[in-house]
Amino acid sequence: MITLNIEKTFGFISEKAINAYETQAKTAREALENGTGKGNDFLGWLHLPSSITTTFLADIEATAHILRENCEVVVIAGIGGSYLGARAVIEALSNSFTRLQEDKKNPAIVYAGHNIGEDYLYELTEYLKNKKFGVINISKSGTTTETALAFRLLKKQCEDQRGKEMAKKVIVAITDAKKGAARITADNEGYKSFIIPDNVGGRFSVLTPVGLLPIAVAGFDIEKLVAGATDMEEACGVNVPFARNPAAIYAAARNELYKNGRKIEILVNYNPKLHYVSEWWKQLYGESEGKENKGIFPAAVDFSTDLHSMGQWIQEGERTIFETVISVEKTNHTLSVPSDEANLDGLNFLAGKRVDEVNKMAELGTQIAHIDGGVPNIRIVIPALNEYNIGQILYFFEIGCGISGYILGVNPFDQPGVEAYKKNMFALLNKPGYEEESKAIQSKL
Ligand code: PA5
Repeated sequence: MITLNIEKTFGFISEKAINAYETQAKTAREALENGTGKGNDFLGWLHLPSSITTTFLADIEATAHILRENCEVVVIAGIGGSYLGARAVIEALSNSFTRLQEDKKNPAIVYAGHNIGEDYLYELTEYLKNKKFGVINISKSGTTTETALAFRLLKKQCEDQRGKEMAKKVIVAITDAKKGAARITADNEGYKSFIIPDNVGGRFSVLTPVGLLPIAVAGFDIEKLVAGATDMEEACGVNVPFARNPAAIYAAARNELYKNGRKIEILVNYNPKLHYVSEWWKQLYGESEGKENKGIFPAAVDFSTDLHSMGQWIQEGERTIFETVISVEKTNHTLSVPSDEANLDGLNFLAGKRVDEVNKMAELGTQIAHIDGGVPNIRIVIPALNEYNIGQILYFFEIGCGISGYILGVNPFDQPGVEAYKKNMFALLNKPGYEEESKAIQSKL
């Protein structure tokens, strides 16, 4: 199991103060369980892992098989909650160098629909030229501009390159059961489609087809991923006492830190494969808690890379931060430092040591330095990067977020703030129906 250690926050906040959250955390956890809290129509994720059936997984696997058999490349088109979970898992488990190439069994995975970069989309269409590619089009609303725009390009290119019949086979839609343009297109074209449940918001959807299909296409074991999440669901169950519920303790510690002026939580990893786990976590906590003019700002760094950039700020900048470190206990490969006769770099003292030993000492040294520099430290240890453990960490952060948001007093399941930019963008682009907004925004230019 993954483990949580909050002892290195005790010099900054007291253990007693954290334990004092027991009742609040219990109330929050029960509100999730009983559906009595804010946003209670979006709790479909709570018992999702344990309710996933083998028949459902088999359907996902069968579709993944069709895509794997017929594609060299699969484009995952989606944004925010319709993209980050899949990318987080795929990048955590993939080879860092070969994930852009198909191998004997699995297609290469690339992403689109998460930006409006013309150069990005141009380069993507160039990359896909003459390749047998497929598309997984993911959008709960089915109307998100970034994704719809990319899909329009991808659909045309796929049909032009592969013919309409094959395109039907290798384009899959994951969207609402009834509404939205993605649903209408899927039904009209006869694409295989999966449903995003109404009661699961985007950022909590990684264990629905939104995450599971891309992860399966990339060749990873979704059964193990779900098993890990299910075990964490049990470990954070409503009847688990506060002292043994890692998500409740995490939620309590971060709320107490926030109360004590720690406005920024930095998620730290020492394994570059976890970069997108941090991106997924940033969305989960940022969108869930950043409202009503409150909420911890979720930031992330990749160490030791960012020790050479953000390290200075973290060590000596304003003391409004705390760190949550994800530490991977065991690497999946071994590599030792070679000896060098000339020893011009002076590194022979490391000869024969594992690279990971050096990394672990960087981690320990940094932890001590940052605590000495006034940065509280929460530590989450993952035994190794595999599907089972990643499943655990995904669910741990989801339930931790639900409890934490309720302790903070916000609705962790809505995101009213993300509409503001869309309204302005549509007004500036003269979208039909936005005439009034267009006039209003012109006066601000
Ligand atoms: O968490 C969320 O709700 C958002 O990040 C959405 O997932 C994102 O905006 C994409 O929306 P949709 O799936 O409707 O295209």
